[in-house]
Amino acid sequence: MKPTIQLPPYPRELTQWWWNQAIQQWPDHGQEKVLNLLREEIVRQSDRFNKSRDFDPSAYGARDLSLLAYGNFYTPRTFAACGFSLAEAFNCRGWRAPGKGPIHILDLGSGSGASSLAALYYLRSWGIKNPIHLDAWDYSGKSLAFLRRIHREAAHLWPDTRVSTERKDIRNLSASGLPIKANYDLVLSSYALNECWEGENQNSCAEIISSMGELLKESGQLVLIEPAEGQVCRALHAATAQVTQNNDRLFLQAPYFSGMPCPLLQNESKYFSHEVRPCTPSTEVEQINHPLGLEIREVKFGFSILSKNKPKRFSSDSEIARIISPVRKRKGTLSFWGIGTSGTETEYEWQRRNLDKEDQKSILQLQRGDLIQISGIDDREEKRIRLTKAEQICPIFIPRWEDRG
Ligand SMILES: C[S@@+](CC[C@H](N)C(=O)[O-])C[C@H]1O[C@@H](n2cnc3c(N)ncnc32)[C@H](O)[C@@H]1O
Repeated sequence: MKPTIQLPPYPRELTQWWWNQAIQQWPDHGQEKVLNLLREEIVRQSDRFNKSRDFDPSAYGARDLSLLAYGNFYTPRTFAACGFSLAEAFNCRGWRAPGKGPIHILDLGSGSGASSLAALYYLRSWGIKNPIHLDAWDYSGKSLAFLRRIHREAAHLWPDTRVSTERKDIRNLSASGLPIKANYDLVLSSYALNECWEGENQNSCAEIISSMGELLKESGQLVLIEPAEGQVCRALHAATAQVTQNNDRLFLQAPYFSGMPCPLLQNESKYFSHEVRPCTPSTEVEQINHPLGLEIREVKFGFSILSKNKPKRFSSDSEIARIISPVRKRKGTLSFWGIGTSGTETEYEWQRRNLDKEDQKSILQLQRGDLIQISGIDDREEKRIRLTKAEQICPIFIPRWEDRG
C-alpha cells in the first residue's frame, strides 16, 4: 500500500556525533570500555524508569555519562517517535505551517534535543520552507547545552532554524514566567510528562496539560508523546480526556476520531493505546545492545494531539479505523483489530484463500497506528467484519520510512 507520508531515516551524522562525544569524553579508554560504561548506564536508566522512578535534575540530566548513554542509545528512537507523531499532525490532523513568517515551536522537557531536532528535521523534509524558531525548556542545563551544540554543529540538517533554550521546571508553567503572548504553532513534550508528573494525581496532570495548551496559537497543536508502558499511556489518555472535558478551548485530535477520548481506557480494556513502528538500529546501537538484549528494532510509544481548533469530524457512516493490534497471520486468515469512528473495537478479517500472494503481502505490511478506510462491507457481525479483497482497504494515514536504497 502506498505510504501517505515518508520519513527520512535518523541522520547518520547524528549517530556519529553522539558516538564521538562518548569517545572524546574518555580518550584513554578503548572502545569496549566506553561501550561497557554506556551499557551500565542504560541498565541504570531503565531501572530508574521501571523501578525507582526518581526523577530530578541532578539524578539524571546533570551527569555526562547519563546524557551520553541517552544520546547514543535512546535518542534515535525518541526522534523516530516524534517524527511519526508529527507526521500524523501534518498529514492527517490538519496542522499547517503559517502562510508566511516563522513557525514557532516549543519543546517542553526537550532534554538534549531528540524531539526538538526531529521536529526541525522532519518539517524541512516535508517541504516546509518557513524559518523555524524553536524554544526548548528543560530543568537540566547540561542537557540544553548538548542541544545547542548539536544544533550548531549539524546546522545543514535544519537550515534557517533558530534555537533558544531555557532552564525551567515545566510543572509550574503558569508560575514560571510564560511569554506574554501564547503564540506557538506546535507545542511538544516527548517522553517527559511521565517524569514531570511522577507522584501527581490526575487533576494535576490535567492542569499541566491545560497550561501547555494555553501556549498554543489558535491554529496550533499540542503533541504529547510518552513511552509505551500501560500505566504511563493510561495516565496520558486519562489526563487528556479530563482536560478536554473541562476545558472548552482544547479538543482532542488524535489518536482517535472527532474528539473522542481513548475508547480502550473508557472500556477499561486490558490493552492500552500505543503505536509500534519498525526502526532500523545503527551498528553503534547494535553494539551497545549486544549483551543487553533490549528491543531495538521497534519504536513503541503512546501519543495524543490536542488543538484549540475543533477536531475534524469523521462521519460515523464511513468505515475509518486506526489499527490497534499487529496484523495476525493464522493458517486460514489474516486479521487485525481497529477502532473506528464510533469508538468500537472491531476485528477485520480475510480468508487467505481469497487473496493472492501480493494482496497478502500488502495486508501484512499494515502497521499498528495506520489509519485506513474500509469499503464494500457486506459481512458484518457485532465485533467482526469479514472482507474478501485487499482493495477494500484504502490508506488515510500510512507513514513509512523513506527507502534510501
Ligand atoms: C526521557 S527525557 C526526554 C528527552 C526528549 N524530549 C526526547 O524525546 O528524547 C526526559 C526529559 O524531561 C526532563 N524533565 C523531567 N521533568 C522535568 C520538569 N519537571 N521540568 C523540566 N524538565 C523536566 C528531563 O530533564 C529530561 O531531559
